[in-house]
This record gives sequence, structure tokens and C-alpha cells, in this order.
Amino acid sequence: MESHGSGRAPGKVILLGEHAVVYGYPAIALAIDRFTSVTFALSRIPLVCSRIRSAPQSVALGTLEQACHVILRRTGQRFGVDLSSSRLEVESELPPGVGLGSSAALSVATIRAVSGVLGRILTEEEVCEAAFLAEHDFHGRPSGIDNTVVTFGGLLRFVRGEPPYRLPPPPEIPLVVVVGRQPRQTRTVVARLEERRRQAPRSVDARFAKIGDLTRAAEPLLATRDWQALGEAMLANHSLLRELGVSTAELDEIVGSARRRSAYGAKLTGGGGGGAVLCLVPEPREEFAAWFRRQGWFAFSVDIFGKEYRDERLSAGHPHFLQL
Ligand code: PMV
Repeated sequence: MESHGSGRAPGKVILLGEHAVVYGYPAIALAIDRFTSVTFALSRIPLVCSRIRSAPQSVALGTLEQACHVILRRTGQRFGVDLSSSRLEVESELPPGVGLGSSAALSVATIRAVSGVLGRILTEEEVCEAAFLAEHDFHGRPSGIDNTVVTFGGLLRFVRGEPPYRLPPPPEIPLVVVVGRQPRQTRTVVARLEERRRQAPRSVDARFAKIGDLTRAAEPLLATRDWQALGEAMLANHSLLRELGVSTAELDEIVGSARRRSAYGAKLTGGGGGGAVLCLVPEPREEFAAWFRRQGWFAFSVDIFGKEYRDERLSAGHPHFLQL
């Protein structure tokens, strides 16, 4: 048994389909080349959590500790051990709470680190399943998309309750993330939309169905690298999310600036209500990101993490563990 274990996991972005995915429509998401790394050791004293480096929009240490408590409780349940006395060191390149999968990445990295210390080899499916438990505590009623993409990497089509499907990743996809300044919680935005759906089921469901159509139509666009058409699909998806009330003036402003600058398309990514915008761009990604940084935003280019493609339907996301 090792006394220290380490684990790493990427963040994610949703290209198309957030929120609708909670109600059974497909979404397309990809793991990104920004990571959270965790070092774990059992200890004699209650949880000590330290952050050794993190993304500019840093989470308060207290909040990080709360998140680690949740993850260790769930991971401890999974392994049948008490992990309340532990030492964790967290290093993250992912801004927290903006829809880039930071909580799922923290969960997956921690589970990988703990499994090393306990000498228990977990399959990727088991890691994904364990992270899904913690996602429940963070998100209320998650679809499972975050933990799935963050665990397996690559470009995935995800349908709630079905095994996710790997899509062939293009050699490069010109994406830039622009992070807004508004704090938000996915849980609150998902709950608000659920209430709206209770009050106006037809109009909400009609928009979810349109998002589902856009998502299905996007797969061949990715395969042929038709960025113009994919960008238009992203803009249409953003408009539908705005009509559903999950965008904000700030997110709309970023989408508008991205369009005026040069983007094929842009949309909020993740839960909305604040958070980040994903842009598909024709110019060198770094130049586009630098232009946003000069306007005072936190922006960076992203690429797909986990491009080695295998034609496979993964077994994670199966109803057995998604029906919690
Ligand atoms: O965690 P976020 O903010 O990336 O949101 C995930 C996407 C949602 O569809 C809004 C929620 C879910 O569980 O699918």
C-alpha cells in the first residue's frame, strides 16, 4: 500500500445540449486540456486540504474544503473506509463554478488518488460511478454528463441513462473559453428551469426538442469540420437557452462580442445563469483569446483532451448507476 496517491482529471465543455440533456435529449461534450491534480494521504488528524496552485478565479479554501469533505465521504462509502482524516493537496487549472466541470474533475482526481493509496484498482466505469455519487451532492439531479466526460476524456455523445458514445474527434477544434464574472450554481439554475417547465411544459419542452435536433444534426458537422454550420448551431442553441431563461446579460454580451470579433458561433456552456461562454473561431485560437483578455475577460483556448479514438459505446452512464 502506498502512503501517498495522486490522481489527475481534465475539465470539460458542453458543445451543445446542456439542460435538455437532463430531460433525456442528447448532448455533445468534450474533455479539455486543463486539469485538476490531487495528492492524497491518510492522516491522523481531520481533513486538511491545501491548494497549491489554482486558476485565476480561485475558489475560497473553505469552499474547496467543503467540496473535498463531500467527495471523501462519498469515496469512503464507495471503498467502505472512513476517509475523514486525510490530507489533500489540490492543484487546479480549472476556474470553479463556471460550467467547466471543476467539481467532477476534483472528484475523479481524488477517487484516482485514493484508490492508489488503498491499493484498489478501479475500472474507469467504477471511477465514473463513484464521481457520480458526489455530483449528486453538488448538483441535485445531475444527468451524469460531467463525471462521464471528465472520467473518459475525448469527444462524447451523452444521453442520460444510456452508455455514452465516443465520437471521432477532429484533429483540432478551434475553441476558446471566455469566463464571465457572475457567480452561479448549476443546482439553482437547473431547479429554476424545472419550475419553469412545471408552469409552461409545452414551451419549455418544445425548446428542449429543438436543442436535441441541433445536437443530433451537429455530429456530421463535426465529422466534416464544417465550422461555419457548427457555429450557427451553437448560436441557435444559445438563443434557445436564452429563451429558457438560463442566459444572462453578461453571457449575451460575451456571445455578441465574440460574433463581432470573428467567431463562427458562441454559446454559454454548462449550467448558465453566469459562468462561461464557448466560442468556435476562425482565427488562431490564441489571438482570439488574447483579444478577449485585452477587454478584461479571463479567456483561454482549449483543445480536446483524449483524442485517441476507439469506436466504442462505453458502459458508464448505464441506467444501473444513473438511477439514484
Ligand atoms: O455542471 P455544469 O454547470 O457544466 O452543468 C452541467 C449541465 C447541465 O445540463 C446544466 C446539468 C446536468 O446535470 O446535465
